[in-house]
Amino acid sequence: MQPTSLYERLGGIYSIATVVDDFIDRIMVDDRLNANPRVNEAHHRVLPPGFKYLVTEMVGEATGGPQRYTGRAMEDSHRDMLITGAEWAAFMDDLHRTLDKFEVPQQERYELLAIVEDLRDAIVTEPAS
Ligand code: HEM
Repeated sequence: MQPTSLYERLGGIYSIATVVDDFIDRIMVDDRLNANPRVNEAHHRVLPPGFKYLVTEMVGEATGGPQRYTGRAMEDSHRDMLITGAEWAAFMDDLHRTLDKFEVPQQERYELLAIVEDLRDAIVTEPAS
């Protein structure tokens, strides 16, 4: 017997899309992130539905669902924004708030956070001082 995938335990694509929808709405208006002018500019350039679509696709694939991510590599889409460690912490705080709102259980939350943390090094680039 295969253990049930994280994708299934999260409730499949409808639940994942709902969580991503809330999370993206949250980060788009987070002043801690938009204080970075490059993030602010990009947040106003991309349209939320497409952004949500790509992140939903990515989470679907990463959790064992049938979706396949079709967007750009994380390094390519984030490198130029020079995202700092403090911005990453704010982003994770928003994620915790969303997971709290939907009462995602501890085990699933732990596995999802591990997937997100694995992407940190591709996204966070402290500017050279
Ligand atoms: C694990 C964490 C993250 C994931 C999974 C993620 C995912 C994505 C994806 C899928 C895209 C679209 C790529 C494409 O256009 O093909 C994207 C773009 C973007 N991300 Fe992230 N992201 C993460 C962290 C962050 C953080 C921490 C910030 C801000 C501080 C951020 C801000 C943005 C912005 C503004 C764009 C639009 C870039 C552009 O199109 O010019 N992301 N992200």
